[in-house]
Amino acid sequence: MLQTLPRFSFRADLALSVVARFWFVVTLLGQWMLAVYVVAFYGRAAMDQDLARWNKVLAVGYVPGDSPGNVALALHLLFAAVITVGGPLQLIPQLRLRLPALHRWSGRLYLLIAVVMSLTGLYLILLRGGVAGDPTQHSGTSLNALLILCCAAFTLRAAVVRNFDQHRRWALRLFLVVSGVWFFRVGLFFWLIVNQGPVGFSPKTFTGPFLSFLAFAQYLVPLTVLEIYLRTQDRAAATGKFAMAGILFLLTLAMGVGIAGAAAGLWLPRI
Ligand code: HEM
Repeated sequence: MLQTLPRFSFRADLALSVVARFWFVVTLLGQWMLAVYVVAFYGRAAMDQDLARWNKVLAVGYVPGDSPGNVALALHLLFAAVITVGGPLQLIPQLRLRLPALHRWSGRLYLLIAVVMSLTGLYLILLRGGVAGDPTQHSGTSLNALLILCCAAFTLRAAVVRNFDQHRRWALRLFLVVSGVWFFRVGLFFWLIVNQGPVGFSPKTFTGPFLSFLAFAQYLVPLTVLEIYLRTQDRAAATGKFAMAGILFLLTLAMGVGIAGAAAGLWLPRI
């Protein structure tokens, strides 16, 4: 009995780490699909010097004469592609350990891009206006931007004072809040698939209780799951770790359904 306990505990740690890797791979593939869409749709329109094509998707896209708004949007879209390709790579431990200098430089770039994304996003919502959704959704997304700025500051501070345990925790939180807009799309399509259509919101006005909820849940749910994961990893008993692995596995499957839906319904048709 005494000999089987360490083995049980080892298996629990292994299960949690395998499921975390599974989550990471599904997330990476899903985020790269968003990046492919941004490059293929927005990037190609820019290369063709046909920015008006952006207006097929965005409520207020390219507006002739609105140079600040157009520049903010162009930067936002350019960096959306960069951060969704590069962000997940920053979390790969092997890259971090083998190429620490690269990790430091790409980390600084990631923080800078996260800040630019948040500020341009806030500018588009609060100053340029005309964005799809209602004030509740705009508040949710604006809070997302503020959380990105806070998590970026804490991630940087922990790295500067060489507290790598805290740096890892803040970097994970930062990654999740930066992924908020991606979780919004994945969550929306998961909801559409399980309900076999729009429930709790109007697809015409793009408003309703479900979308108000999702505007906050897009980062609050992933952040909550992360905090439970970190606490479980730190100090839970083996059974707790198995339970966390099971929950994370189910959440990853649900995320996979949402990614497949978003790819089929949103990204691939526009490429
Ligand atoms: C940091 C990660 C972010 C990424 C990867 C990202 C990505 C994108 C993408 C791909 C679009 C084009 C819409 C589409 O084709 O689906 C977009 C538009 C937009 N984003 Fe972001 N975004 C991020 C953060 C933010 C934040 C924090 C805000 C708000 C403060 C924001 C506000 C906006 C707005 C207002 C638009 C225009 C949408 C419209 O007119 O309907 N974004 N973003």
